[in-house]
Amino acid sequence: MMLENEDRELDARLRPANLSEFVGQSKVVSQVSLIIKAAKIDGRTADHMLLAGPPGLGKTTLAMIVAHESERSLRLTSGPAIQSAGDLAAVLSSLENGDVLFIDEIHRLSRSAEEMLYLAMEDFRVDVMVGKGPGASSISLDIAPFTLVGATTRSGMLPTPLRDRFGFTAFLEFYDESELSEVINRSAVRLGFTIGQAAVSELASRSRGTPRIANRLLRRVRDFAAVNGHPEISEQTVIESMELFGVDGRGLDRVDRELLGLLAGKFNAKPVGLSTLAVALGEEPETIESVIEPFLIRSGLLARTARGREITQTGLEHLAS
Ligand SMILES: Nc1ncnc2c1ncn2[C@@H]1O[C@H](COP(=O)(O)OP(=O)(O)OP(=O)(O)O)[C@@H](O)[C@H]1O
Ligand SMILES: [Mg+2]
Repeated sequence: MMLENEDRELDARLRPANLSEFVGQSKVVSQVSLIIKAAKIDGRTADHMLLAGPPGLGKTTLAMIVAHESERSLRLTSGPAIQSAGDLAAVLSSLENGDVLFIDEIHRLSRSAEEMLYLAMEDFRVDVMVGKGPGASSISLDIAPFTLVGATTRSGMLPTPLRDRFGFTAFLEFYDESELSEVINRSAVRLGFTIGQAAVSELASRSRGTPRIANRLLRRVRDFAAVNGHPEISEQTVIESMELFGVDGRGLDRVDRELLGLLAGKFNAKPVGLSTLAVALGEEPETIESVIEPFLIRSGLLARTARGREITQTGLEHLAS
């Protein structure tokens, strides 16, 4: 996902470096830990892993941790950065034995790159074309064994043959309030300021289940406290600054509320197709599907039915509150 520079910098500073620092997702953490340990015992590269889930839940962080915990080098690239199969061939053939290759937004790889990846994942080989026109031929090159870690906000977009080639898929879930409190406490310590526990809980409940958002809001609250001369961040500081930034008690932002507002008003609380909703909201359908609605659905404010998106009773009550 595209991030603002400030977020990117904050993300990098606050990123947990190993599995023991990684908050929550306990099942995924145990699974990843087991895969890495087993590979170490056998002296082979770990299985390819696919990390799926909404933005800001820790996919990139986990990919970095996989490399760190396996004591391997990490190579980073992304689906959109790989324009052609040739680009991918160059990346794959430069890998060294045991490298962890992270491909972010793997659902956005081109079809030809995807096909090249199948063979690379399965047999550690790439087929490259040599020459042009009628004299062109394909030769098969061995590449170093590696572990692919793919990340996607849209696992449903991955073709089955690609999905099937991952030995393990982790679906990252939204974080609960106690996990977000842990993230916030940890970040406050790292950033060197004090925050009371009531303020932490208040902030956690407005973080949309997402560590990246928790860190971003923490920064806004810190700014607010500094500018208004609050020596310590209190619950009241959180409430006032969240009001200023348009984040409501459930963590919904302006776009979330606009979407619910459209469903309740313009669409009379009836089901609406994704593309119609996207036009009304002025967002891409993809953004609604992978960024905005997962949290609304998990909060029980929005329902995804066979006939389209529909606001729930809880959603209507929240808008009215
Ligand atoms: N489990 C966690 N424990 C503590 N902090 C976390 C955790 N997961 C994520 N974070 C924090 O949230 C930030 C965002 O996480 P990350 O960049 O890994 O998300 P992502 O899933 O890759 O998002 P995107 O889909 O936008 O690329 C991290 O830099 C880190 O500061
Ligand atoms: Mg990421």
